Amino acid sequence: MTTLSWPTLEQLWQRRAAWRIRRAHIGDRAAMQSFVEEGLGATTRRLRFHGAIKACSTRLASALVEGEAVWAAFDDSALIGEARFVRDEADPERAEMAIAVADRWQGRGLGAALLGTVLAQAQRAGVRRLLADVMCGNTRMQRFVQRHGFAPLLHWRGGDTQLYECQLAAPQDAWLGPLVALYRRLQR
Ligand SMILES: CC(C)(COP(=O)(O)OP(=O)(O)OC[C@H]1O[C@@H](n2cnc3c(N)ncnc32)[C@H](O)[C@@H]1OP(=O)(O)O)[C@@H](O)C(=O)NCCC(=O)NCCS
Repeated sequence: MTTLSWPTLEQLWQRRAAWRIRRAHIGDRAAMQSFVEEGLGATTRRLRFHGAIKACSTRLASALVEGEAVWAAFDDSALIGEARFVRDEADPERAEMAIAVADRWQGRGLGAALLGTVLAQAQRAGVRRLLADVMCGNTRMQRFVQRHGFAPLLHWRGGDTQLYECQLAAPQDAWLGPLVALYRRLQR
């Protein structure tokens, strides 16, 4: 039997407090370049960008920090995670999300913190359907999104990715969200 001791709780608290999440801006461009080129290993880069990327050009870094809804996590001045949603121009209640956490920060809850930010902000911004386009072999992301309320869409749009969808309640129904999450957790 595992006993939860105070040092463990303290370590968990330190881990949680170790990063700071805020909106990204153009001043984060250099940090984003280092994050993509040094923070993400080759496999993580391929899973995040759905293809092999070696270098992060200034242009790509600018595109990654700009946008309506982009969040970055920092450990001091080092960028260690990023997440975003991009609204569908034709259907503003629909948006697609993307996320990546630096290799050595994965498995510590940072992905969950970033995704929680994206879900809350998307809901506040009036998004009702949040999509994640995940590579078929990316089982970790598939488990991750499903744990956070996404479900695979039955229709397959081809290629080597699978679309997952999370339906977000209208803000006046938002109090239901935590209850639904608890219900799903108890069902597992
Ligand atoms: C998917 C991804 C964003 C998840 O980020 P993360 O920071 O590792 O996520 P979390 O730590 O919140 O949760 C992931 C795992 O760590 C575990 N975990 C969470 N908090 C933890 C903690 N404090 N200590 C140890 N493990 C922990 C979770 O149980 C989970 O387990 P799993 O291996 O069964 O998935 C990250 O793996 C990633 O960047 N992947 C590559 C890029 C990618 O695939 N992007 C998606 C493109 S659509």
